[in-house]
Amino acid sequence: MLEALTLTTESAALTKHALPTVWNSAEWVAYFRHNATNLMPVPWGCGAGVSPEELAEIAGSLRAWQLGETSDGTRLTRAASRYAVRMNDPGFVDAIRLFIAEEQRHGAELGKYLDLVGVPRKGRDWGDAVFRCFRHVLHQMEVWATVVVMVESHAMLYYAALRRATGSAVLRRICHQILRDEVPHLRFQCERLAVLHRGRARVLWVLTMGAHRVLFAGVTLAVWAGHRRALRAGGFTFGRFWRSAWAQMGKAWRAMDPRAYRWPAPTATS
Ligand SMILES: [Fe+2]
Ligand SMILES: [Fe+2]
Repeated sequence: MLEALTLTTESAALTKHALPTVWNSAEWVAYFRHNATNLMPVPWGCGAGVSPEELAEIAGSLRAWQLGETSDGTRLTRAASRYAVRMNDPGFVDAIRLFIAEEQRHGAELGKYLDLVGVPRKGRDWGDAVFRCFRHVLHQMEVWATVVVMVESHAMLYYAALRRATGSAVLRRICHQILRDEVPHLRFQCERLAVLHRGRARVLWVLTMGAHRVLFAGVTLAVWAGHRRALRAGGFTFGRFWRSAWAQMGKAWRAMDPRAYRWPAPTATS
């Protein structure tokens, strides 16, 4: 009995020790700077490499997604600046600026591809308008990060589908790079949410998670409505997309749970 108890205590200590810590802003800045200089080359010399049939399936969706990736980030930087002051973490603004720069690179590469295949870029899109409207109304860092996590979870599915839907070496490489970038993006947002959710009363946290489920269901339906043609071309039926989206977001929900991290012990104040 005593042996079992000792083993349980030891494994609990081991599990606690094995938990990751949340990266600080300096670590995220270092990551984003490193990533910016370690990009996979896009084989632009190969040309568009897309058939008219392929393009017909993905062009409309690609235009809308390209617009969504293109934001000057002014409002996010403003929200991050207010948050950084509150948290006494000025480095967070630098991390957010580098994050925005990566998203702008995604938009620029997709835009360059649209130009290459002669498809005009989009200036307006209902999905993008709803997304921006939502973020403009609510200026809190938590809302930003929550909405971004949901969109990025869908982006993981979308770019994987787009990659499957085309034989274009250029577009496939762009998608590959975006997918590679989005994994740390999700972690970046989830860690921030874990920081923000930390210390929240259990009942409020359960309510927050409930609200997330409702919002996520809406975002998933909206993404399917706006992009089903490209998603289908990439092998998704609605059922498969729905299940994959919830599985992807499930990982994010686990990663934004404060209990998933080891936190520094509180420092004693005099
Ligand atoms: Fe992106
Ligand atoms: Fe992203």
